[in-house]
Amino acid sequence: MAEQTQADIGLIGLAVMGENLALNIADHGFNVAVYNRTTQVMKNFIAANPDTPGGLIGCESVADLLAAVKKPRKIIVLVKAGAAVDTVAQQLIGAGLEKDDLIIDCGNSQWTDTIRREKDYSRQCRFFGSGVSGGEVGARFGPSLMPGGDAQAWRHLEPIWKAIAAKVDPGTGKAIETAKPGQPVKDGIPCTAYIGENGAGHYVKMIHNGIEYIDMQLISEAYFLMRNLLSLQPDELSPIFARWNQGDLDSYLIEITADILKQRDPRDADSFLVDRVLDTAQQKGTGKWTSINALDMGIPANAIAEAVFARCLSALKDERIEAAKHLAGPRYTYSGDRDELINAVHDALYCSKICAYAQGFQLMRAAEGEYHWKFDFASIAGIWRGGCIIRARFLQKITDAYTRAPGLVNLLLDPYFKEQLHKGQSHWRTVVALAAQAGLAAPAFMSALAYYDGYRSAQLPANLLQAQRDYFGAHTYERTDEPRGALFHLDWPAPDRPEIAMPAPGSAV
Ligand code: 6PG
Repeated sequence: MAEQTQADIGLIGLAVMGENLALNIADHGFNVAVYNRTTQVMKNFIAANPDTPGGLIGCESVADLLAAVKKPRKIIVLVKAGAAVDTVAQQLIGAGLEKDDLIIDCGNSQWTDTIRREKDYSRQCRFFGSGVSGGEVGARFGPSLMPGGDAQAWRHLEPIWKAIAAKVDPGTGKAIETAKPGQPVKDGIPCTAYIGENGAGHYVKMIHNGIEYIDMQLISEAYFLMRNLLSLQPDELSPIFARWNQGDLDSYLIEITADILKQRDPRDADSFLVDRVLDTAQQKGTGKWTSINALDMGIPANAIAEAVFARCLSALKDERIEAAKHLAGPRYTYSGDRDELINAVHDALYCSKICAYAQGFQLMRAAEGEYHWKFDFASIAGIWRGGCIIRARFLQKITDAYTRAPGLVNLLLDPYFKEQLHKGQSHWRTVVALAAQAGLAAPAFMSALAYYDGYRSAQLPANLLQAQRDYFGAHTYERTDEPRGALFHLDWPAPDRPEIAMPAPGSAV
């Protein structure tokens, strides 16, 4: 039971992320009141952490938690995304949460739920949604935080969020690497910034995860191609990724890939663990949401969607084992130069990555119109430079691109990225062609290249497609020699029939 109202912030939900976030906040000198549905979990947590700089207060009920936190109260909710968030919000409201108090939902909630909750609870409190990325280590020592909600409410949260977020070195643009318990990183640019109203923070976190999916898939394809074309063992591949991590591809995901590949199987020191991990990928849904949102808004985020489908295909393990017995592929042996291929895969990976990020930012651009947000893309790329799963040197280049041109239509058109694509595309095409020749599935490399080629084509075959639509369904077509929006129809096949000008949709005719 809390004895006095002294906590700077409250936190509900002491699973791994909740515990680590609470300790991170306390490390920065803030006093944190914590509550968990199972009281023993809370007691164990308090007992295990007696001496944090800010102090922890254990609360046995939601009412105790509200009594312990200074007003306006800030209550972080870290429970499973979905119905549990509403249950906790109702409990807080029932226990006396006040209109100026903030609920901060830090789970991977769907942004449409956050939009709804902000509206539904607006009479009782201020509902805030904050994306949190970086897994448990990030939560403990510095995550990337993507807060969205009422701009006035943000001012109350800002000092804590800026203190606990990962920090970037202003000189190099690189993340300042992790702290030790009780000794947090204090200097540097915090990896958090106000994203926008209602569900904007959770939307941007979802895009982060969509990019995470494609980033991971591309790295996995690079591994798969080098492994199969060059017959390299995991411990021969590990130093290649470690070397890449010193250059343009420098990123957390490349770094952990180098680590994973050198890991021996704890059960058998002669083999590598990666060879014992079953090749079926699971997913919790944020990549799927990103892809569905892309389809809903008509944005060609094909590489992101391909990364989700690649996981779905991987999950069909039994079917694939069976199909492998029946469906033949080509016979192919790579006979070229080893280092040349490694360099080519590097460039294919970098070019594909540029396309993947271009798609993520294109989605956010479209969402601005759809949900009436105004994003600062340089800032979003900036807060992804540290703390989060997709943190990478590359994000500084994106920050630079949107600082140069905040209205940039597509990242591919930025001078730096254009140059990289021009430099790398010959290798990228070689790798995609080799994958096809060898019968090795590389859907993300291929799909990213198709996006690049489609986006840079002034002429696509949709003229024929639209004619087909008009032929079988009178769906009309526009003409290249008439103003945009003027619609025509032909009674096909029609050697002797006139073309009919159709009324524009919504016109009074
Ligand atoms: C992060 C991650 C995290 C996500 C996991 C698992 O930013 O810290 O995105 O939020 O939940 O990576 O996601 P999947 O189970 O969908 O792979």
